[in-house]
Amino acid sequence: MTQFPLHRPRRTRAHTWSRAMVRETRLDPSDLIWPLFVTSGKGVEEPIASLPGVSRWSLDGIVARAKEAISLGIPCIALFPNTPAEKRSDDGKEALNPDNLMCRAIDAVKQACGNDLGVLTDVALDPYTSHGQDGLLDDNGYVINDATVEVLTGQSLVQADAGADIVAPSDMMDGRIGAIRDTLEQADHHNVQIMAYAAKYASAFYGPFRDAVGSGGLLKGDKKSYQMDPANGDEAMREIALDIDEGADSVMVKPGLAYLDIIYRAHQAFDVPVYAYQVSGEYAMLEAASSVGAGDRDALLMEKLMAFKRAGCSGVLTYHAPVAARLLNG
Ligand code: PBG
Repeated sequence: MTQFPLHRPRRTRAHTWSRAMVRETRLDPSDLIWPLFVTSGKGVEEPIASLPGVSRWSLDGIVARAKEAISLGIPCIALFPNTPAEKRSDDGKEALNPDNLMCRAIDAVKQACGNDLGVLTDVALDPYTSHGQDGLLDDNGYVINDATVEVLTGQSLVQADAGADIVAPSDMMDGRIGAIRDTLEQADHHNVQIMAYAAKYASAFYGPFRDAVGSGGLLKGDKKSYQMDPANGDEAMREIALDIDEGADSVMVKPGLAYLDIIYRAHQAFDVPVYAYQVSGEYAMLEAASSVGAGDRDALLMEKLMAFKRAGCSGVLTYHAPVAARLLNG
């Protein structure tokens, strides 16, 4: 490297036009996936206290949000149901009901929006079980892998039958991606994608989400026997490799900002699209910080989303998706 003043890195930073020319990373509304919470009834909006600005919506509201997504240039929404308490059970069998809240929401959005919008669906049992765990329990409260995978394949199938475009298993059972791909192929759902929550950590950032789907109060203990230890990075690479081998079209790292190293490594090591989930706790922290004047909400948000793109993400699941899209659209 030649020395100062031959090189003055500030030269290219001096003007807006010049900064625009050398900008390495760009954000676009098409980088965003908008997670939405579904509730029963008609004309219902239920604000979620721990996620200020986010509500559960009944089907009509979900369809309105879906149309809003299209108008904002957001290509995909992710749906999560708040299953009525009386439909939750130890075995979570409501997950297999083709007429459950989730499937009705998928169908309503696909009827209204067709292929103008992608619908991503969560595959896991926690919104359907009376114990709030993502799978079936043995007598000791351990989540049983293989029997759970069988239920998850059935859950994926009812979601795909209802019109889901991308099924996204968030359960962290072993072998579920291959089993789900087999099931989808056999049912002629050749073009239904799988986005694997491949590196999902047992995180303290999921609290507001569990309030939103109503599993938080039910959950006893933790999810550490299936979700990953936040201390591990090499293991995340093994998890991602397995899910790609089993047929995942794309992979996800979750949570987001605290795992930026995992995102970066995944993007370097694998040639499938990598997504980050900026989870509920991250949303809540940003809103809380800006509400006490610790920073400008919009600027903080765009800086965080840019970090995901810079680290190598193809896109980000974020509850801030409509806010971010509006900012990007000017
Ligand atoms: C459930 C699931 C969770 C999230 C997405 N799918 C919670 C959990 O694993 O307990 C968290 C999303 C968020 O916090 O925004 N399998």
